[in-house]
Amino acid sequence: MTLRDDQQPDAGLRGGSQDPRPADPAKAATRWAWVPTRSLGPRHRDRIAAHLLGLDEQDRYLRFGYAATDAQIAKYVDLLDFDHDEVFGIFNRRLELIALAHLAFGSSPGENARGAMAEFGVSVVRKARGRGFGARLFEHAVLHARNRGVQTLFIHALSENTAMLKIARNAGATVERDGPESEAWLRLPPDTFASHMEQLMGDQAAEFDYQLKLHASNMSRILDTISEVKANLSKASHIAGE
Ligand SMILES: CC(C)(COP(=O)(O)OP(=O)(O)OC[C@H]1O[C@@H](n2cnc3c(N)ncnc32)[C@H](O)[C@@H]1OP(=O)(O)O)[C@@H](O)C(=O)NCCC(=O)NCCS
Repeated sequence: MTLRDDQQPDAGLRGGSQDPRPADPAKAATRWAWVPTRSLGPRHRDRIAAHLLGLDEQDRYLRFGYAATDAQIAKYVDLLDFDHDEVFGIFNRRLELIALAHLAFGSSPGENARGAMAEFGVSVVRKARGRGFGARLFEHAVLHARNRGVQTLFIHALSENTAMLKIARNAGATVERDGPESEAWLRLPPDTFASHMEQLMGDQAAEFDYQLKLHASNMSRILDTISEVKANLSKASHIAGE
């Protein structure tokens, strides 16, 4: 299940653009292509930290509800509990983590009244926004939460966070605004055999895609090293021949 070039997570990105939405219909179409979303574990802490540290002050404020410092982000990453929670993301061809989500189980307000709950948090690097990655990670979270028996998905967002609230509303969540802050609640359907199969197949396809990218990245590093060695050898033989 390899993606065409125009379907790759880093295809057609408009670095630095203020308007995150795709500029043309072809780019808009990629929003509906399959996007490999991979589960992350303790060995990805460095990549997770690099992604979060790459967020500017405004994005950190939107993501965490306060402008988290580098030290606070480092602590957050250190404390991620991959056994209890789920952390997943989208990698581009260079294995840069361009979108990251955290599904935290059982730590949300109103847990008893609303049944088993999970809280969703997400960030997408600026250059990759408006391509549907935020919404894809939300769908992924819905599926995984359902399959773990969660009944309600919770999102805490600033009321100014149009994109996040739109993702939640589009999925059917109820949004309660309390001044500068908003809470969104999405009631999830129970898991089914089909939802488990969907998760299994999606996870396997994403793992396969990741391994292909890893292989391509290793090959390119080997080729770079070979050309460097060749260049040094020819320089050395040139000097020796002088
Ligand atoms: C919120 C965030 C994750 C959205 O990611 P994204 O990949 O750009 O979102 P999508 O492309 O999936 O867009 C989702 C919806 O929001 C809309 N949208 C995106 N950016 C928007 C903007 N700046 N203004 C208005 N709507 C916007 C999209 O059009 C889409 O709606 P549609 O499907 O009805 O057209 C991203 O902006 C981000 O990382 N922000 C900083 C961190 C943050 O706010 N996290 C959320 C709090 S936990």
